[in-house]
Amino acid sequence: MLDQIQNKMEAFITQVGNVNVSKLASGVVAGKMLRSKLILAICDNHPKALDLCAIIEMIQSASLLHDDVIDESETRRGQSSVNAVFGNKNSIMLGDVFYAKAFFELTKINERVARSVSNAVVALARGEIDDVFLSEGFNPDKQKYFQMLKDKTASLITASAESAAILAGLDSAKYRDYGCNLGVAFQIIDDLLDVSQDTSTLGKPAMNDFKEGKTTLPYILLYECLDGDDKKILISYFKKDSEQAKEWLKAQFDTHNIIAQVQAQARKYGDLALASIKDENNQSLEKVVETMIYREF
Ligand code: FPP
Ligand code: MG
Repeated sequence: MLDQIQNKMEAFITQVGNVNVSKLASGVVAGKMLRSKLILAICDNHPKALDLCAIIEMIQSASLLHDDVIDESETRRGQSSVNAVFGNKNSIMLGDVFYAKAFFELTKINERVARSVSNAVVALARGEIDDVFLSEGFNPDKQKYFQMLKDKTASLITASAESAAILAGLDSAKYRDYGCNLGVAFQIIDDLLDVSQDTSTLGKPAMNDFKEGKTTLPYILLYECLDGDDKKILISYFKKDSEQAKEWLKAQFDTHNIIAQVQAQARKYGDLALASIKDENNQSLEKVVETMIYREF
């Protein structure tokens, strides 16, 4: 099924009818396709399910093409990013093509789905803007962090689950709720892996978030555990790229049991996701939660 989605995306790109677009698109590496797995777990035999998956994956890829320019990232999914190979301008323009073509195809699905997905993209872009503004300084505010990640990461996952439920004729509010909680858990795990895994496992540099100016949950929780002097040291390492900083941070994460605390937060949102669909008898969706929380990259 995932191959078929990949083929559908390639067909959409071919329909754009431009050799340069096809050349740039060949530099986009396929991801884990979490959103597609979610859609297929809800409405796999609907005639428009594969189209919806390809549309969502193209929007996701568009957002990452733009995000890698904003974050000046050289790698994506274990390989050189499109901006690293073809430059920032091309990465942005390719993102625009992906985004616009996805929206053209979205109009063929149905109005409720189109409204759900387009609204999610507004949230996605809003979340990215908040992320950039939050990155201007150390952010100890958990509420701001959660609002930003609900927008930046959970919104498209929410819309994927909701849209699939709309197509399947199910109670879309339950699936929306499921998607939102799963999305938050997903980003918490992503933030955790940044501080707990090595570069080769991640397919992108490890301990990179803080250096990029992102005060993710491990850092906010650590800040809450530290005394005044150590708080100052933590803030002094914000956006710094030094081995000394990394060693200090790792030791503090150990001392204050931060990894387990972050895992517990992800588990909490995972359980909320499971509670949202408890009467739906969908084991695939339940499995998605477990696989996502206990993933290693
Ligand atoms: C990754 O965040 C980025 C996102 C999940 C969304 C980015 C959204 C935009 C750039 C707006 C896109 C707008 C349109 C119109 C498509 P991250 O940097 O925390 O994760 P990473 O480590 O995977 O880069
Ligand atoms: Mg990024």
